[in-house]
Amino acid sequence: MLKLFNKNYKFSKFGFARITPEIKNKKLFFDKVSFRNKKYLLIKDKKDAGALKVKKEDLQKNFTLYADLLLRSGYIKIAEELVEDKIYPYVVMHMLNDKNTKELIWHRDQYFHGKDFIGPKFKLYKLAIYLQDTNKDNGVTGFIPKFISPRFKNRYIDTIFAYLSSFLSIHPRLSIGEAVIFSGKVMHHRPRQINKNLREAIIFSCTNNPNNLPKLKDDEKEFLNVFLKSKIDYEIQ
Ligand SMILES: [Fe+2]
Repeated sequence: MLKLFNKNYKFSKFGFARITPEIKNKKLFFDKVSFRNKKYLLIKDKKDAGALKVKKEDLQKNFTLYADLLLRSGYIKIAEELVEDKIYPYVVMHMLNDKNTKELIWHRDQYFHGKDFIGPKFKLYKLAIYLQDTNKDNGVTGFIPKFISPRFKNRYIDTIFAYLSSFLSIHPRLSIGEAVIFSGKVMHHRPRQINKNLREAIIFSCTNNPNNLPKLKDDEKEFLNVFLKSKIDYEIQ
């Protein structure tokens, strides 16, 4: 049975919530999952400020492991409590930042630019699990309080405003295995790593209904499909 410590999970005024699951032998577990000693399997993603990402072929080999981690350690259960809705992760990204990775600038994953809505057209949540103790010095995701973060319908003004108010931002201190969840509409960034600790994270794009992604749902190679199968295997509703 999952024990969730009866914590009062809730979203902060910064638009994110912390998820602290119970995992035995965390260090050992995340060492096994880690790619920090397999850098040859990573590719630099220039579009993501030079973050190092696990290649699709290797990522796919781990899909069952990721689904197990989410379902059996309580991440999904806690996330569903938080958003008061169902959570279906549909894309996985396993990534490392090192000293050469630049800041990923302040942005929202979903926003209006003029009349155009940019990003997925359905409910989007990001769930990021950090594989080591993580804080601002090694690239934890940062947030700006929602009440001073008006959503301008112009992406440039929106970003400039974020930088002007970024002195009020918060960067949570997370311990190994902790996760954050936030909506795609929330302003966030990833600071540059300035200490010696790599930042490794597994980041899931999630939605509230698998039918939002009919193609991924029925494709055996896709994470959403693997996740749905694991759910049935574990008889999780
Ligand atoms: Fe983002």
